[in-house]
Amino acid sequence: MKQREHFGSRFAVIAAMAGSAVGLGNIWRFPYILGEYGGAAFILLYVAACLLLALPIFYAESLIGRASRSDTFGAMKKLAPGTAWRWAGLLTVVSPLLLLSYYSVVGGWSVEYLFKSLSFSFTDVPADDIPHLFGRFISSPWQPLFAHTAFMGLVAGVVLGGVKGGIEKFSKVAMPALFLLILAILVYSLTLPGAGRGVEYLLKPDFSKVTADAGAAALGQAFFSLSLGVGTILTYASYIKKDENLMVSGLGTAVSDLLFALIAAFAVIPAVFAAGLQPGSGPGLVFETLPYIFHKMGQGVPLVSTLVSSVFFVAILAAALTSAISMLEVGVAFLTDERGMKRRTATWILAFGCWAVGILCSLSFGPLSHVKVLGYTFFDFLDHLCSDWLLPLGGLIFTLFVGWKMSKKEVRNEFTNGETVNTRIFGVIYFLMRFVTPVGIVIVFLTNLLM
Ligand code: PHE
Repeated sequence: MKQREHFGSRFAVIAAMAGSAVGLGNIWRFPYILGEYGGAAFILLYVAACLLLALPIFYAESLIGRASRSDTFGAMKKLAPGTAWRWAGLLTVVSPLLLLSYYSVVGGWSVEYLFKSLSFSFTDVPADDIPHLFGRFISSPWQPLFAHTAFMGLVAGVVLGGVKGGIEKFSKVAMPALFLLILAILVYSLTLPGAGRGVEYLLKPDFSKVTADAGAAALGQAFFSLSLGVGTILTYASYIKKDENLMVSGLGTAVSDLLFALIAAFAVIPAVFAAGLQPGSGPGLVFETLPYIFHKMGQGVPLVSTLVSSVFFVAILAAALTSAISMLEVGVAFLTDERGMKRRTATWILAFGCWAVGILCSLSFGPLSHVKVLGYTFFDFLDHLCSDWLLPLGGLIFTLFVGWKMSKKEVRNEFTNGETVNTRIFGVIYFLMRFVTPVGIVIVFLTNLLM
């Protein structure tokens, strides 16, 4: 039998997993969700959601992945042969592909914004016109489609390189580079006059903002940001060596993801305040506001604005790519492992399928904006379907599988590497996976249903 590929080192494991986790979720989604739910209080909810609910699911997924050394569908088949669990595994092959279809559209926006920055498009117009550029861009039929196509092409290109040649190499360079880029923007942002109010907004919690709605949003964001419930972490973990400490690599990934989100928030929100804008202005926050702010920052020197803006969009693009790669990899692993398909064929078929669905999402901001599915535009429908339902459902399945289907002995053996590590903490983690996490997710479902 063919030897399954492995990640080369612990750093490579964490870099690839963090590469998947850190993405548009941290830099595009976290700042505006935080802005909508009131700043510092939301940060507290988010940290709690990450540690108590999301981290145990992270462990559940990586445990299943490494124990089975398979893709999501194969994992369930291997660990619970002849049961219906494998259909649950199949769900998590489909959901990341749906996710990729619209994620690639937003990834395309960052491609476009990088080009706009590099070609001085933001400095050629008055600052006040910049926010309108976004609306004009996404409502036009062709530009976003080209951008979406370019982004999907990049994703397929890296996935074609295989685990070592492509994903690992790319993540190893992109992640540290991204970290430095965001840090530089944070420092720049904090020096702006008026940034202090933004810092206060992020540090002084207003506890009246701690509502059920905000709690559900925090958990949804934790799922999205940690790439949970879609089999991505499971698939990556299937490439982890048997002597790697799952608890350490999981914690390393979760902490890096959290750090990135916080750094992004501290880079974006103070700048928003400095410019006298609203933190709760929605999904357009990064794409509409930041180029406007960068323009102002340049104080009439186009080169400065262009430089800051380009650096920022390179960072977003790198983050979006490493995440998107991991979404495609889930499906590719399924087709190569289960169907014996060639990696190249599998990659092109899936990338093409996602690209085609993405076209509908992209057009739903323009020519197809009147077409509604259950009252949502195509893009919004997929976004709600994925983050509100499919991700939590996948997470629930994984945590129930580990907590209630696999034997305690098997779970313990995998988590402790045959009683050599994590033996003391195992009881706590197992308790969280069996009881706390499933109940937490069901509460999120109920909140979503009742709201
Ligand atoms: N975690 C990624 C982000 O923050 C999104 C993602 C979700 C990636 C699910 C893979 C799987 O952008």
